[in-house]
Amino acid sequence: MLLGIIGAMNEEVIQLKEEMILENTREIGGYNFFKGTLLGKNIVLVECGIGKVNAAICSTLLIQEFNVDKVLFTGVAGALNPEINIGDIVVSTDLVEHDFDATAFGYDYGVIPRMEVSKFQADKDLVELAKNVAIENFGKNRVFMGTILSGDVFVASPDKIKWLRDTFNGECTEMEGASVAHVCHILNKPFVIIRSISDKANHDANMNFDEFVKLAAQNSKIIIEGMLKGF
Ligand code: ADE
Repeated sequence: MLLGIIGAMNEEVIQLKEEMILENTREIGGYNFFKGTLLGKNIVLVECGIGKVNAAICSTLLIQEFNVDKVLFTGVAGALNPEINIGDIVVSTDLVEHDFDATAFGYDYGVIPRMEVSKFQADKDLVELAKNVAIENFGKNRVFMGTILSGDVFVASPDKIKWLRDTFNGECTEMEGASVAHVCHILNKPFVIIRSISDKANHDANMNFDEFVKLAAQNSKIIIEGMLKGF
């Protein structure tokens, strides 16, 4: 089995990269795909860059060029649920592109016209595994399951948090997960998105992000490595 692992930023993949045994690196369109083993499991690791399009390109390449069997996405997010704190973990049950807006045609926010699915379901077994590993490492009170929202926007305002909560009831917000989910849905690959919270998407979000991104990335890494033991 070959696992595809994606992170958006260097901070989110560097620790995994340092621990893997690298067999080869292939560059496609400026994205570096690191193939090798981590804890004895075959992986392809890639830093996709920020935003939905970058994430969609990298997931498509991972699946089409490397033929990975499953896709794991690891990284940081801003909390929307007020019960979730910095350093806590969110495992995706499903994902929505929150910036998709065809309301002019009568669609609800987040609905992609002419697609049967706009809320992409993560793989149940991967979700269960991620949840168990997260609880083992961080305790039940720090692990949340639910909808993750993605958009090409760094959320840093209470008004936007309220709108996202009221409209989609998401647990956290980030900039890639739903597009990875969208690609995996189209190409029929199991996936899960695991996010550690770097900020609370409010006015302090940018400062908190800078301060906590490393800690949150470390948390995500712990979960990915724990999951690898489960394969
Ligand atoms: N990633 C981490 N924090 C975020 C936020 N507040 N908005 C969007 N993406 C994020």
